[in-house]
Amino acid sequence: MTKYLIHGGKPLHGTIEISGAKNAAVAIIPAALLVDGKCRIENVPQISDVTLILQILQDLGADVRAVNRTTVEIDCSHIRNKPVPYELARKIRASYYLVGALLGRFGRAQVPPPGGCNLGGRPIDQHIKGFIAMGAEVEVHSGLIDARMPGGRLSGGQVYLDMVSVGATMNIMLAAALADGLTIIENAAKEPHIVDLANFLNSMGANIMGAGTDVIKVRGVKSLRGGSYSIIPDQIEAGTYMAAVAAAGGEVLIQNVIPKHLDSITAKLLEMGVDVEELDDAVLVRRTGPISRANVKTMPYPGFPTDMQPQIAACLCLARGTSVLTEGVWESRYRYVDEFRRMGAKIQVDGKVAVIEGVEQLTGAPVHACDLRAGAAMIVAGLAARGDTEIGGIYHIERGYENIVEKLSSVGADIQILYQPDDETQSQAG
Ligand code: EPU
Repeated sequence: MTKYLIHGGKPLHGTIEISGAKNAAVAIIPAALLVDGKCRIENVPQISDVTLILQILQDLGADVRAVNRTTVEIDCSHIRNKPVPYELARKIRASYYLVGALLGRFGRAQVPPPGGCNLGGRPIDQHIKGFIAMGAEVEVHSGLIDARMPGGRLSGGQVYLDMVSVGATMNIMLAAALADGLTIIENAAKEPHIVDLANFLNSMGANIMGAGTDVIKVRGVKSLRGGSYSIIPDQIEAGTYMAAVAAAGGEVLIQNVIPKHLDSITAKLLEMGVDVEELDDAVLVRRTGPISRANVKTMPYPGFPTDMQPQIAACLCLARGTSVLTEGVWESRYRYVDEFRRMGAKIQVDGKVAVIEGVEQLTGAPVHACDLRAGAAMIVAGLAARGDTEIGGIYHIERGYENIVEKLSSVGADIQILYQPDDETQSQAG
Protein backbone atom coordinates (compact mmCIF):
# COMPACT_ATOMS: atom_id res chain seq x y z
CA MET A 1 0.00 0.00 0.00
CA THR A 2 1.41 3.38 -1.01
CA LYS A 3 1.90 5.68 1.96
CA TYR A 4 3.03 9.15 2.86
CA LEU A 5 6.04 9.45 5.13
CA ILE A 6 6.38 12.69 7.05
CA HIS A 7 9.32 13.68 9.16
CA GLY A 8 7.63 16.29 11.29
CA GLY A 9 8.62 19.27 13.37
CA LYS A 10 9.73 21.62 10.59
CA PRO A 11 8.04 25.03 10.26
CA LEU A 12 6.65 25.83 6.79
CA HIS A 13 7.82 28.81 4.71
CA GLY A 14 6.91 29.91 1.18
CA THR A 15 3.92 30.05 -1.14
CA ILE A 16 1.20 27.53 -1.96
CA GLU A 17 -1.17 27.85 -4.94
CA ILE A 18 -4.72 26.59 -4.36
CA SER A 19 -6.47 24.47 -7.02
CA GLY A 20 -10.08 24.56 -8.18
CA ALA A 21 -12.76 23.47 -5.71
CA LYS A 22 -13.47 19.74 -5.59
CA ASN A 23 -17.06 20.06 -4.43
CA ALA A 24 -17.80 22.62 -7.17
CA ALA A 25 -16.07 20.57 -9.89
CA VAL A 26 -17.95 17.36 -9.08
CA ALA A 27 -21.26 19.18 -9.62
CA ILE A 28 -20.27 21.43 -12.53
CA ILE A 29 -18.91 18.54 -14.61
CA PRO A 30 -22.22 16.59 -14.43
CA ALA A 31 -24.00 19.89 -15.19
CA ALA A 32 -22.34 19.73 -18.63
CA LEU A 33 -24.80 16.87 -19.36
CA LEU A 34 -27.54 19.52 -19.57
CA VAL A 35 -25.71 21.56 -22.20
CA ASP A 36 -26.18 21.14 -25.91
CA GLY A 37 -22.71 22.03 -27.13
CA LYS A 38 -19.20 22.32 -25.87
CA CYS A 39 -18.39 23.48 -22.31
CA ARG A 40 -14.88 24.65 -21.61
CA ILE A 41 -14.22 24.33 -17.88
CA GLU A 42 -11.10 25.93 -16.40
CA ASN A 43 -9.40 25.63 -13.00
CA VAL A 44 -10.41 21.95 -12.76
CA PRO A 45 -8.52 20.26 -9.91
CA GLN A 46 -6.46 17.20 -10.85
CA ILE A 47 -7.84 14.79 -8.28
CA SER A 48 -9.20 11.28 -8.55
CA ASP A 49 -12.84 12.29 -7.90
CA VAL A 50 -12.70 14.49 -11.01
CA THR A 51 -11.11 11.71 -13.07
CA LEU A 52 -13.95 9.40 -12.03
CA ILE A 53 -16.77 11.80 -12.82
CA LEU A 54 -15.22 12.52 -16.23
CA GLN A 55 -15.02 8.75 -16.86
CA ILE A 56 -18.72 8.44 -16.08
CA LEU A 57 -19.53 11.20 -18.59
CA GLN A 58 -17.38 9.47 -21.21
CA ASP A 59 -19.19 6.23 -20.54
CA LEU A 60 -22.45 8.06 -21.31
CA GLY A 61 -20.96 9.15 -24.64
CA ALA A 62 -19.61 12.61 -23.79
CA ASP A 63 -16.64 13.84 -25.76
CA VAL A 64 -14.08 14.84 -23.11
CA ARG A 65 -10.83 16.54 -24.10
CA ALA A 66 -8.08 17.84 -21.82
CA VAL A 67 -6.97 21.22 -23.21
CA ASN A 68 -4.22 21.62 -20.62
CA ARG A 69 -3.51 20.54 -17.04
CA THR A 70 -6.46 22.40 -15.56
CA THR A 71 -8.83 22.93 -18.51
CA VAL A 72 -11.21 20.40 -19.95
CA GLU A 73 -13.68 20.60 -22.82
CA ILE A 74 -16.82 18.50 -22.54
CA ASP A 75 -19.29 18.05 -25.36
CA CYS A 76 -22.46 16.19 -24.38
CA SER A 77 -24.33 16.76 -27.68
CA HIS A 78 -24.35 13.05 -28.46
CA ILE A 79 -24.73 11.38 -25.08
CA ARG A 80 -26.90 8.30 -24.62
CA ASN A 81 -29.27 7.77 -21.76
CA LYS A 82 -28.26 4.52 -20.10
CA PRO A 83 -27.68 3.28 -16.56
CA VAL A 84 -24.54 4.65 -14.92
CA PRO A 85 -22.11 1.77 -14.25
CA TYR A 86 -22.05 0.61 -10.65
CA GLU A 87 -18.26 0.23 -10.60
CA LEU A 88 -17.77 3.94 -11.32
CA ALA A 89 -20.73 5.39 -9.39
CA ARG A 90 -19.99 3.57 -6.14
CA LYS A 91 -16.56 5.14 -5.84
CA ILE A 92 -17.74 8.70 -5.65
CA ARG A 93 -20.32 10.36 -3.48
CA ALA A 94 -21.03 13.04 -6.05
CA SER A 95 -22.39 10.46 -8.51
CA TYR A 96 -25.78 11.53 -7.08
CA TYR A 97 -25.55 14.67 -9.25
CA LEU A 98 -26.04 12.43 -12.27
CA VAL A 99 -29.61 11.80 -11.14
CA GLY A 100 -30.54 15.50 -11.33
CA ALA A 101 -28.59 16.09 -14.53
CA LEU A 102 -29.89 13.03 -16.45
CA LEU A 103 -33.43 13.56 -15.20
CA GLY A 104 -33.27 17.16 -16.40
CA ARG A 105 -31.83 16.22 -19.77
CA PHE A 106 -33.76 13.02 -20.61
CA GLY A 107 -36.57 12.70 -18.07
CA ARG A 108 -34.96 9.44 -16.92
CA ALA A 109 -31.98 8.65 -14.73
CA GLN A 110 -30.70 5.26 -13.58
CA VAL A 111 -27.85 5.72 -11.14
CA PRO A 112 -26.55 3.33 -8.47
CA PRO A 113 -26.88 4.84 -4.98
CA PRO A 114 -23.64 6.63 -4.12
CA GLY A 115 -21.14 5.21 -1.65
CA GLY A 116 -20.02 7.43 1.13
CA CYS A 117 -17.25 8.31 3.55
CA ASN A 118 -18.20 6.86 6.87
CA LEU A 119 -19.62 10.04 8.35
CA GLY A 120 -22.68 8.31 9.77
CA GLY A 121 -25.84 7.86 7.68
CA ARG A 122 -25.83 9.68 4.36
CA PRO A 123 -29.42 9.67 3.13
CA ILE A 124 -30.56 11.37 -0.09
CA ASP A 125 -34.24 11.65 0.78
CA GLN A 126 -34.20 15.44 0.29
CA HIS A 127 -32.85 15.08 -3.25
CA ILE A 128 -35.66 12.64 -4.01
CA LYS A 129 -38.25 14.89 -2.38
CA GLY A 130 -37.16 17.64 -4.77
CA PHE A 131 -37.43 15.43 -7.88
CA ILE A 132 -40.89 14.26 -6.79
CA ALA A 133 -41.96 17.89 -6.30
CA MET A 134 -41.06 18.38 -9.98
CA GLY A 135 -43.32 15.52 -11.04
CA ALA A 136 -40.77 12.67 -11.19
CA GLU A 137 -41.42 9.12 -10.03
CA VAL A 138 -38.48 7.73 -8.09
CA GLU A 139 -37.92 4.09 -7.16
CA VAL A 140 -34.90 2.28 -5.83
CA HIS A 141 -34.68 -1.22 -7.30
CA SER A 142 -32.04 -3.65 -8.57
CA GLY A 143 -29.30 -1.52 -7.05
CA LEU A 144 -30.38 1.59 -8.96
CA ILE A 145 -32.05 4.88 -8.19
CA ASP A 146 -34.50 4.90 -11.06
CA ALA A 147 -36.04 8.35 -11.56
CA ARG A 148 -38.41 9.00 -14.44
CA MET A 149 -40.64 11.81 -15.57
CA PRO A 150 -43.70 10.64 -17.46
CA GLY A 151 -43.75 12.81 -20.59
CA GLY A 152 -40.01 13.52 -20.44
CA ARG A 153 -39.78 17.08 -19.17
CA LEU A 154 -39.92 17.93 -15.46
CA SER A 155 -42.25 20.68 -14.32
CA GLY A 156 -41.23 23.35 -11.82
CA GLY A 157 -42.11 22.66 -8.21
CA GLN A 158 -41.63 24.02 -4.73
CA VAL A 159 -39.52 22.21 -2.17
CA TYR A 160 -38.66 23.04 1.42
CA LEU A 161 -35.55 21.16 2.53
CA ASP A 162 -35.98 19.63 5.98
CA MET A 163 -32.30 20.20 6.63
CA VAL A 164 -29.74 22.37 4.88
CA SER A 165 -28.26 20.02 2.30
CA VAL A 166 -25.54 20.97 -0.17
CA GLY A 167 -26.14 17.93 -2.36
CA ALA A 168 -29.95 18.27 -2.45
CA THR A 169 -29.75 21.99 -3.23
CA MET A 170 -27.41 21.42 -6.18
CA ASN A 171 -29.18 18.31 -7.45
CA ILE A 172 -32.55 20.09 -7.50
CA MET A 173 -30.94 23.06 -9.30
CA LEU A 174 -29.58 20.66 -11.92
CA ALA A 175 -32.96 18.99 -12.43
CA ALA A 176 -34.79 22.32 -12.53
CA ALA A 177 -32.56 24.12 -15.05
CA LEU A 178 -34.44 22.65 -18.06
CA ALA A 179 -37.82 22.06 -16.36
CA ASP A 180 -41.06 23.66 -17.44
CA GLY A 181 -41.74 26.68 -15.21
CA LEU A 182 -40.44 27.88 -11.86
CA THR A 183 -38.81 25.75 -9.15
CA ILE A 184 -38.36 27.22 -5.68
CA ILE A 185 -35.90 25.68 -3.20
CA GLU A 186 -36.44 26.89 0.35
CA ASN A 187 -33.97 26.40 3.21
CA ALA A 188 -31.30 25.99 0.53
CA ALA A 189 -27.60 25.59 1.33
CA LYS A 190 -25.43 28.68 0.76
CA GLU A 191 -21.95 27.21 0.24
CA PRO A 192 -19.67 28.94 -2.29
CA HIS A 193 -19.98 25.91 -4.59
CA ILE A 194 -23.77 26.40 -4.75
CA VAL A 195 -23.16 29.89 -6.14
CA ASP A 196 -20.50 28.49 -8.47
CA LEU A 197 -22.88 25.90 -9.94
CA ALA A 198 -25.56 28.58 -10.42
CA ASN A 199 -23.02 30.87 -12.11
CA PHE A 200 -21.90 28.03 -14.39
CA LEU A 201 -25.47 27.17 -15.40
CA ASN A 202 -26.42 30.85 -15.84
CA SER A 203 -23.39 31.44 -18.04
CA MET A 204 -24.72 28.62 -20.26
CA GLY A 205 -28.16 30.28 -20.47
CA ALA A 206 -29.99 29.07 -17.33
CA ASN A 207 -32.10 31.39 -15.20
CA ILE A 208 -31.22 30.80 -11.52
CA MET A 209 -31.75 33.49 -8.91
CA GLY A 210 -30.90 33.67 -5.23
CA ALA A 211 -27.97 31.21 -5.08
CA GLY A 212 -26.03 32.05 -1.90
CA THR A 213 -29.27 32.85 -0.03
CA ASP A 214 -31.66 30.34 1.51
CA VAL A 215 -34.27 30.71 -1.26
CA ILE A 216 -33.22 29.76 -4.77
CA LYS A 217 -35.54 30.24 -7.73
CA VAL A 218 -34.89 28.39 -10.96
CA ARG A 219 -36.94 29.37 -13.99
CA GLY A 220 -36.54 26.53 -16.45
CA VAL A 221 -35.27 27.33 -19.95
CA LYS A 222 -35.71 25.34 -23.18
CA SER A 223 -32.00 24.59 -23.67
CA LEU A 224 -28.51 25.50 -22.51
CA ARG A 225 -25.74 26.50 -24.90
CA GLY A 226 -22.02 25.82 -24.64
CA GLY A 227 -19.56 28.30 -23.15
CA SER A 228 -16.52 28.79 -20.99
CA TYR A 229 -16.32 28.84 -17.18
CA SER A 230 -13.65 28.86 -14.48
CA ILE A 231 -14.22 26.99 -11.20
CA ILE A 232 -13.71 28.83 -7.87
CA PRO A 233 -10.68 28.03 -5.69
CA ASP A 234 -11.05 25.27 -3.11
CA GLN A 235 -11.99 26.74 0.27
CA ILE A 236 -11.21 23.49 2.11
CA GLU A 237 -7.87 22.89 0.42
CA ALA A 238 -6.88 26.44 1.42
CA GLY A 239 -8.17 25.89 4.96
CA THR A 240 -6.18 22.67 5.23
CA TYR A 241 -2.91 24.48 4.41
CA MET A 242 -3.86 27.26 6.84
CA ALA A 243 -4.26 24.58 9.52
CA ALA A 244 -0.92 23.03 8.50
CA VAL A 245 0.87 26.34 9.10
CA ALA A 246 -1.01 26.79 12.39
CA ALA A 247 0.10 23.34 13.57
CA ALA A 248 3.68 23.25 12.24
CA GLY A 249 4.45 26.98 12.59
CA GLY A 250 6.12 29.23 10.02
CA GLU A 251 4.77 31.68 7.44
CA VAL A 252 3.05 30.74 4.18
CA LEU A 253 1.30 32.81 1.52
CA ILE A 254 -1.72 30.85 0.32
CA GLN A 255 -2.57 32.11 -3.15
CA ASN A 256 -5.52 31.89 -5.53
CA VAL A 257 -8.19 31.99 -2.83
CA ILE A 258 -11.33 34.04 -2.26
CA PRO A 259 -10.59 35.28 1.29
CA LYS A 260 -14.32 35.86 1.98
CA HIS A 261 -14.92 32.09 1.61
CA LEU A 262 -12.35 31.51 4.35
CA ASP A 263 -13.87 33.93 6.89
CA SER A 264 -14.98 31.33 9.45
CA ILE A 265 -11.61 29.53 9.28
CA THR A 266 -9.66 32.78 9.49
CA ALA A 267 -11.73 33.95 12.48
CA LYS A 268 -11.10 30.70 14.36
CA LEU A 269 -7.36 30.72 13.65
CA LEU A 270 -7.10 34.34 14.83
CA GLU A 271 -8.87 33.32 18.05
CA MET A 272 -6.25 30.56 18.41
CA GLY A 273 -3.41 33.06 18.19
CA VAL A 274 -2.47 32.45 14.56
CA ASP A 275 -1.88 35.56 12.38
CA VAL A 276 -3.93 35.61 9.21
CA GLU A 277 -3.67 38.57 6.85
CA GLU A 278 -6.21 38.82 4.05
CA LEU A 279 -4.94 40.09 0.71
CA ASP A 280 -6.87 40.41 -2.60
CA ASP A 281 -6.64 36.78 -3.71
CA ALA A 282 -4.38 35.34 -1.01
CA VAL A 283 -4.05 34.92 2.73
CA LEU A 284 -0.77 35.16 4.60
CA VAL A 285 -0.72 32.77 7.56
CA ARG A 286 1.91 32.99 10.27
CA ARG A 287 2.35 31.23 13.58
CA THR A 288 5.27 31.85 15.85
CA GLY A 289 3.75 31.76 19.36
CA PRO A 290 1.69 29.13 21.17
CA ILE A 291 -1.76 27.97 19.97
CA SER A 292 -4.63 29.03 22.22
CA ARG A 293 -7.54 26.75 23.00
CA ALA A 294 -10.87 27.38 21.25
CA ASN A 295 -14.33 25.90 20.93
CA VAL A 296 -15.44 25.03 17.41
CA LYS A 297 -18.87 24.04 16.16
CA THR A 298 -19.34 23.00 12.55
CA MET A 299 -22.34 24.36 10.67
CA PRO A 300 -23.52 24.91 7.12
CA TYR A 301 -21.92 27.93 5.37
CA PRO A 302 -21.18 30.62 6.48
CA GLY A 303 -20.51 28.62 9.65
CA PHE A 304 -17.28 26.73 10.30
CA PRO A 305 -17.13 23.93 7.67
CA THR A 306 -17.46 20.31 8.72
CA ASP A 307 -14.86 19.50 6.07
CA MET A 308 -12.31 21.41 8.21
CA GLN A 309 -13.27 19.74 11.49
CA PRO A 310 -10.51 17.06 11.60
CA GLN A 311 -7.82 19.52 10.47
CA ILE A 312 -8.70 22.10 13.15
CA ALA A 313 -8.79 19.23 15.68
CA ALA A 314 -5.17 18.49 14.78
CA CYS A 315 -4.27 22.08 15.69
CA LEU A 316 -6.30 22.00 18.91
CA CYS A 317 -4.41 18.88 20.01
CA LEU A 318 -1.42 21.20 20.38
CA ALA A 319 -3.24 24.14 21.98
CA ARG A 320 -2.76 25.39 25.51
CA GLY A 321 -5.80 24.24 27.46
CA THR A 322 -8.94 22.26 26.69
CA SER A 323 -11.06 22.80 23.58
CA VAL A 324 -14.56 21.57 22.77
CA LEU A 325 -15.37 20.52 19.22
CA THR A 326 -18.98 19.97 18.19
CA GLU A 327 -19.96 18.33 14.89
CA GLY A 328 -23.11 20.08 13.70
CA VAL A 329 -23.53 18.59 10.22
CA TRP A 330 -22.76 14.86 10.25
CA GLU A 331 -23.90 12.20 12.66
CA SER A 332 -20.31 11.30 13.44
CA ARG A 333 -17.01 12.45 12.07
CA TYR A 334 -14.54 11.31 14.70
CA ARG A 335 -13.22 8.07 13.28
CA TYR A 336 -9.77 9.66 13.10
CA VAL A 337 -9.55 10.13 16.85
CA ASP A 338 -8.05 6.69 17.53
CA GLU A 339 -5.29 7.47 15.03
CA PHE A 340 -4.60 10.83 16.68
CA ARG A 341 -4.34 9.06 20.03
CA ARG A 342 -1.53 6.93 18.61
CA MET A 343 0.30 10.21 18.11
CA GLY A 344 -0.18 11.22 21.74
CA ALA A 345 -3.35 13.33 21.40
CA LYS A 346 -5.73 13.50 24.34
CA ILE A 347 -9.29 13.44 23.00
CA GLN A 348 -12.55 12.17 24.48
CA VAL A 349 -15.56 11.76 22.22
CA ASP A 350 -19.17 11.62 23.31
CA GLY A 351 -21.57 11.56 20.35
CA LYS A 352 -21.14 14.75 18.37
CA VAL A 353 -18.80 16.35 20.92
CA ALA A 354 -15.04 15.89 21.26
CA VAL A 355 -13.12 17.33 24.19
CA ILE A 356 -9.49 17.94 23.30
CA GLU A 357 -6.90 18.49 25.99
CA GLY A 358 -3.90 20.14 24.39
CA VAL A 359 -0.51 18.42 24.71
CA GLU A 360 2.98 19.90 24.48
CA GLN A 361 4.00 17.72 21.56
CA LEU A 362 2.57 15.04 19.24
CA THR A 363 4.83 12.16 18.29
CA GLY A 364 5.02 10.48 14.88
CA ALA A 365 3.31 7.08 14.48
CA PRO A 366 1.95 4.80 11.76
CA VAL A 367 -1.67 5.88 11.09
CA HIS A 368 -4.38 5.16 8.53
CA ALA A 369 -6.47 7.77 6.71
CA CYS A 370 -10.06 6.63 7.23
CA ASP A 371 -11.54 9.27 4.94
CA LEU A 372 -10.52 12.31 2.92
CA ARG A 373 -10.47 15.05 5.57
CA ALA A 374 -9.31 12.67 8.29
CA GLY A 375 -6.35 11.88 6.04
CA ALA A 376 -5.66 15.58 5.53
CA ALA A 377 -5.77 16.06 9.30
CA MET A 378 -3.22 13.28 9.78
CA ILE A 379 -0.89 15.17 7.47
CA VAL A 380 -1.43 18.34 9.52
CA ALA A 381 -0.70 16.42 12.73
CA GLY A 382 2.29 14.64 11.17
CA LEU A 383 3.86 17.94 10.04
CA ALA A 384 3.77 19.21 13.62
CA ALA A 385 4.75 15.96 15.32
CA ARG A 386 8.20 14.96 16.50
CA GLY A 387 9.55 12.01 14.49
CA ASP A 388 8.12 10.01 11.60
CA THR A 389 4.45 9.63 10.71
CA GLU A 390 3.54 7.05 8.10
CA ILE A 391 0.05 7.52 6.66
CA GLY A 392 -1.76 4.66 4.91
CA GLY A 393 -5.04 4.86 2.97
CA ILE A 394 -3.78 7.83 0.98
CA TYR A 395 -6.15 7.12 -1.92
CA HIS A 396 -8.70 8.93 0.25
CA ILE A 397 -6.49 12.03 0.33
CA GLU A 398 -5.81 11.94 -3.41
CA ARG A 399 -9.54 12.07 -4.08
CA GLY A 400 -9.58 15.68 -2.95
CA TYR A 401 -6.09 17.22 -2.81
CA GLU A 402 -4.10 17.96 -5.96
CA ASN A 403 -0.34 17.38 -5.62
CA ILE A 404 -0.42 17.67 -1.85
CA VAL A 405 3.05 16.18 -1.43
CA GLU A 406 4.59 18.57 -3.97
CA LYS A 407 2.77 21.59 -2.53
CA LEU A 408 3.91 20.84 1.03
CA SER A 409 7.46 19.98 -0.04
CA SER A 410 7.68 23.34 -1.78
CA VAL A 411 7.19 25.10 1.59
CA GLY A 412 9.83 23.01 3.34
CA ALA A 413 7.84 20.05 4.65
CA ASP A 414 9.71 16.77 4.81
CA ILE A 415 7.07 14.57 3.17
CA GLN A 416 7.49 11.83 0.63
CA ILE A 417 5.51 9.12 -1.09
CA LEU A 418 6.50 5.56 -0.25
CA TYR A 419 5.47 3.63 -3.35
CA GLN A 420 4.54 0.07 -2.64
CA PRO A 421 2.87 -2.48 -4.90
CA ASP A 422 -0.70 -3.76 -4.36
CA ASP A 423 -2.12 -0.33 -3.74
CA GLU A 424 -5.69 -0.07 -2.49
CA THR A 425 -8.08 1.60 -4.87
CA GLN A 426 -11.30 1.32 -2.93
CA SER A 427 -12.13 4.99 -2.84
CA GLN A 428 -15.52 6.23 -1.81
CA ALA A 429 -17.34 9.32 -0.82
CA GLY A 430 -16.83 13.09 -0.71
N1 EPU B 1 -29.06 14.89 4.69
C1 EPU B 1 -30.22 14.17 4.82
N2 EPU B 1 -30.94 13.89 3.69
C2 EPU B 1 -30.53 14.29 2.46
C3 EPU B 1 -29.33 14.99 2.33
C4 EPU B 1 -28.61 15.28 3.46
O1 EPU B 1 -30.62 13.81 5.91
O2 EPU B 1 -31.24 14.01 1.47
C5 EPU B 1 -28.28 15.23 5.89
C6 EPU B 1 -26.92 14.52 5.92
O3 EPU B 1 -27.02 13.23 6.48
C7 EPU B 1 -26.09 15.49 6.74
C8 EPU B 1 -26.66 16.86 6.37
O4 EPU B 1 -27.96 16.62 5.84
O5 EPU B 1 -26.31 15.25 8.10
C9 EPU B 1 -25.85 17.65 5.33
O6 EPU B 1 -25.57 16.83 4.20
P1 EPU B 1 -25.29 17.44 2.76
O7 EPU B 1 -26.35 16.97 1.85
O8 EPU B 1 -25.08 18.92 2.87
O9 EPU B 1 -23.93 16.75 2.37
P2 EPU B 1 -23.48 16.17 0.95
O10 EPU B 1 -24.07 17.01 -0.12
O11 EPU B 1 -23.72 14.70 0.89
C10 EPU B 1 -21.40 17.66 0.67
C11 EPU B 1 -19.93 17.44 0.48
C12 EPU B 1 -19.31 16.95 1.79
C13 EPU B 1 -19.61 17.96 2.89
C14 EPU B 1 -21.11 18.24 3.00
C15 EPU B 1 -21.47 19.34 3.98
C16 EPU B 1 -19.77 16.84 -1.84
C17 EPU B 1 -19.53 15.79 -2.85
N3 EPU B 1 -19.71 16.46 -0.57
O12 EPU B 1 -21.94 16.39 1.02
O13 EPU B 1 -17.93 16.91 1.55
O14 EPU B 1 -19.16 17.46 4.13
O15 EPU B 1 -21.61 18.64 1.69
O16 EPU B 1 -20.82 20.53 3.66
O17 EPU B 1 -20.00 17.99 -2.19
C18 EPU B 1 -15.72 16.24 1.81
O18 EPU B 1 -15.44 16.97 0.85
O19 EPU B 1 -14.86 15.69 2.54
C19 EPU B 1 -17.12 15.98 2.12
C20 EPU B 1 -17.52 14.97 2.89
